[in-house]
Amino acid sequence: MKAIVIGGTGLVGSEVVSQLRPDHEVISVGRTRGDMQVNIEERASVKALFERTGPVDAIISLAGDGVFGAFDDDTDEAYARVLKSKVMGQVNIARQGHPYLNEGGSITLTSGAVSRHPMPGTAAIALGAGALDAFVGSVALELKEGKRINAISLSLVKESAEKLGWDSANCVPVKRVAQRYLDAAFGPINGQAIAL
Ligand SMILES: NC(=O)c1ccc[n+]([C@@H]2O[C@H](COP(=O)([O-])OP(=O)(O)OC[C@H]3O[C@@H](n4cnc5c(N)ncnc54)[C@H](OP(=O)(O)O)[C@@H]3O)[C@@H](O)[C@H]2O)c1
Repeated sequence: MKAIVIGGTGLVGSEVVSQLRPDHEVISVGRTRGDMQVNIEERASVKALFERTGPVDAIISLAGDGVFGAFDDDTDEAYARVLKSKVMGQVNIARQGHPYLNEGGSITLTSGAVSRHPMPGTAAIALGAGALDAFVGSVALELKEGKRINAISLSLVKESAEKLGWDSANCVPVKRVAQRYLDAAFGPINGQAIAL
């Protein structure tokens, strides 16, 4: 199978790439690093990426900025970033990428657990995560040729919590997180926000 991992140079993405590489042809894509580069915020950049890769069996996205900020912050910055990057960036990936999916292929996006488990300071991120969960549910109804789309509703990864000096006792290690991306990409699930 041929897989493209957008955000494949990051913490989670590089583990997804490592787990895929023994069995699949993998293109790791970053904003500044990786086998290829893209800016998911630019529709033309995403289109150009898929023109380069050609047909693929799995599109996996771990890209998209989320910005923490208090609800009463008077600027629009956090909302603008989340909507342009995490939401519309991944919508760009799905919209530009699906014509390049082989029959039975899949798209796996990344949303976020804060839409299900509210946390102070994450209003913008939660807004974006909920939007992506709704998006995949709807798009799944319209995809043809056995193509599928899901979102991983990701909670704080153990290694990220450790880096921040936060309690990581209940967090999921990156190796297990990556496994769920592979399950979503190659299993039967469709139109789901997969809680992790
Ligand atoms: N880690 C966590 O605990 C956690 C929890 C919940 C949700 N998430 C979300 O899950 C995703 C992956 O997390 P992570 O910790 O692996 O992130 P990370 O280490 O910061 O990696 C981000 C990846 O996305 C790429 N990227 C960022 N902006 C991009 C853009 N505009 N266009 C193309 N590529 C772009 C980066 O490329 P370069 O390396 O080239 O810059 C990198 O490969 C993120 O969206 C994050 O918000 C993470």
